[in-house]
Formats: sequence, structure tokens, C-alpha cells
Amino acid sequence: MKMYRTTLVALAALCAPVAMAQTAPKIKVGLMLPATGTFAALGTAIENGFRLYVAEQGGKIAGREIEYVKVDDESDPAKAADNVNKLIKRDNVDVLVGTVHSGVAMAMAKAAKDSGTLLIVPNAGADAVTGPMCSPNIFRSSFSNWQPGYAMGEVVAKKGHKKAVTITWKYAAGDESVRGFKEAFEKGGGQVVKELSLPFPNVEFQALLTEIAAAKPDAVYTFFAGGGAVKFVKDYAAAGLKKSIPLYGAGFLTDGTLEAQGADADGLLTALHYADSLNSPRDAAFRLAYAKAYKLQPDVYAVQGYDAAQMLGIGLAATKGDISKKNEIAEALRKAKIDSPRGAFTLGKSHNPVQDMYLREVSGKENKMVGIASKALADPGRGCKM
Ligand code: PHB
Repeated sequence: MKMYRTTLVALAALCAPVAMAQTAPKIKVGLMLPATGTFAALGTAIENGFRLYVAEQGGKIAGREIEYVKVDDESDPAKAADNVNKLIKRDNVDVLVGTVHSGVAMAMAKAAKDSGTLLIVPNAGADAVTGPMCSPNIFRSSFSNWQPGYAMGEVVAKKGHKKAVTITWKYAAGDESVRGFKEAFEKGGGQVVKELSLPFPNVEFQALLTEIAAAKPDAVYTFFAGGGAVKFVKDYAAAGLKKSIPLYGAGFLTDGTLEAQGADADGLLTALHYADSLNSPRDAAFRLAYAKAYKLQPDVYAVQGYDAAQMLGIGLAATKGDISKKNEIAEALRKAKIDSPRGAFTLGKSHNPVQDMYLREVSGKENKMVGIASKALADPGRGCKM
């Protein structure tokens, strides 16, 4: 009897640390992404990338299991405050990951700033998020809208084009992408002679394409993405413009869209922080793992989702899984070199990636890297005080 009791006590002592480890609460990740609408495929790729990194870590980040709470934000800014507040207040998430649309992301940044919740933005480029709204608990694994626009403006000016027309959706992402393009293009001696736009997510491009034909510029610069980008590229070619006026874009124009665009996208030049032919061992391993897991080729959105999870991992490793230590998480991320499939990057003072912008040319079903449009490009972080 005595021996039996001793054995039990010994067993209990042995099991105690295991039991404690097993009951360490999960990290609740609030995934706020579009599952419907023109950006639906982008949301899926981001989630796939995020989950791939977590799976590679054995389903855990910094030793803590992950639990997902998901919201379809529909890329609708009018619903954004309610959606994000539900995640923060009702679901008590530890970290917010989202989203694609800049207008929705600005509502998320406001809620994150007000509540102190950690936010990692895996796409939306709203300049304000790492500008006036910047905060010690807000990070971006993607880009600012200014970045690809500025890089493409430099390229188009260097090509010797003098007069450009821009065309985009009238909302933060379109406006800011065009502003970045214009800043570099005009610095390089060009002039934007007309800025065309239509409301998001409209795709009735016909009247605007007629205006482009009439204006006869040397070049067109555009920001469209997802389903809208597919239709724009097809309509531009169908209008006969592809032959006469070269079309340039922020790389979203041709990322994750090439199957649907077919030959109409062939030869298009765009600037982005990812390409399909980087040929680095890091990217090759990522692409293989992604293709195995999802039977799909990854795109820039998948990379940004993957890196959002990596960034969460870096932050939490520094606090041994304690999400409440926001200052230590921020300190670790500010010092980090993030080993991204796009190439390693660091975060600037306003927590936006400092990264190479590749010049890519569509060839077959790939965005082939044909050069560096802008090396280690840092967003100016205008208006960020922290
Ligand atoms: C944005 O709204 O910031 C946005 C959306 C889709 C993209 C890029 C940026 O592909």
C-alpha cells in the first residue's frame, strides 16, 4: 500500500510539468480577411501562407498552440469597425491579423491603437497605417501603397516616357499608389497628364478606356488587384490599347491573376516585392511546401501571410510566448531580419518592410524577375510619431 502511494506521488510529480505545459492557453489569432468579393482569393492565399508557417512549426508558435477566430470582412469599410471590435471585445483575440483592403485596415489600426491589441497587417498598404496611425503594437508584413507606385514611377521615367495617364479605384490604395508613381515619375522628368478613377470595386472600364485612347499618352500606370485586375487587363487588350500604349502597374495587377488573364497579360511590366522566379533556396523551399500543401502556386499574398506568422513567431519567441509584453515584442521585431521567401527584410521605424522592389515581366504564367526597380526601398513613414 505504502509503495503504491509513493509511486503515485512520484508519478504525479513527473506529470505536473507536462500537465502545466498542456494547459498553457492557446494564442487566439483573429483572422480578419475577405472571403467574398473581388479580393476573396487574396484572403485565402494570406490564410494559407499563415497556416503553412504555423504547420512548419508543428502547429505552435513559441510553444503555444494557435486557435483561429475568422471573420469575412467583405472588403467593406462600412462594416470594418463592427467586425474588428467583435474580435477584440467579444472573442478576446490576442492578436489581429488583417486585412487586404486599405479602408478596412484603417479601421483595424484605429481599434488596435485604442485597445493596445497587437496587429499584423498582411497586405493592405494604407500609407496611414505606418504613417499618422503608426503605433508600437502595429506592424506590416507587406508594403505601403506608396512603395510599388514609387518604384514603378522611377522605371517608367527612366524608360524615357514623358506623359502618363493613371487609372485606378478611387480609394486609399488606388490614390496612394498613383501618388507614389507620380512622385517618382515627375521627379524623373515625366508628367501625369490625367488621373482617371472609378469607385471600388466597380469594373465598368469602357468609358475610361475611351478617354485613355483619346488622350494618347506615352504610358499608362495602374493599380488594380484581384478580380478587378483580371478584368482590367483583359479589357485593356480587347480595346486595342495594349498594342499602342504600354501599360505599367503595381505588381498586384498580375499577381495571383495570370491563369485568368492568359495571353492578355503577356509582356506586362510591374513592380513588386515578390516575383515567381527569384531562384533563392529560401523561396524554392517555400514554393515547394506551399504547392504540396495546397496544390497551388503561391503568390505575393501567400508570402505576406507566411511572413505575418513569422513575425508573430519572432515577437513571441522574445517573450517566451507572453503576448502581453508588447514592448519586448516590438523591440524584437524592430531588430529582426525577417527571413522571407521574397528575400530577407527589416522593418523601418514606422514598422513597414524595407525591401527590394523587383521589376517583373509577365512571361507565360509567371511574373519573371527582370531586374530591381528600387533597392531596399523604405516608405518615408510620413506623419508617424512614435
Ligand atoms: C489595398 O487596399 O491596400 C490593397 C488591396 C489589394 C492589393 C493591394 C493593396 O493587392
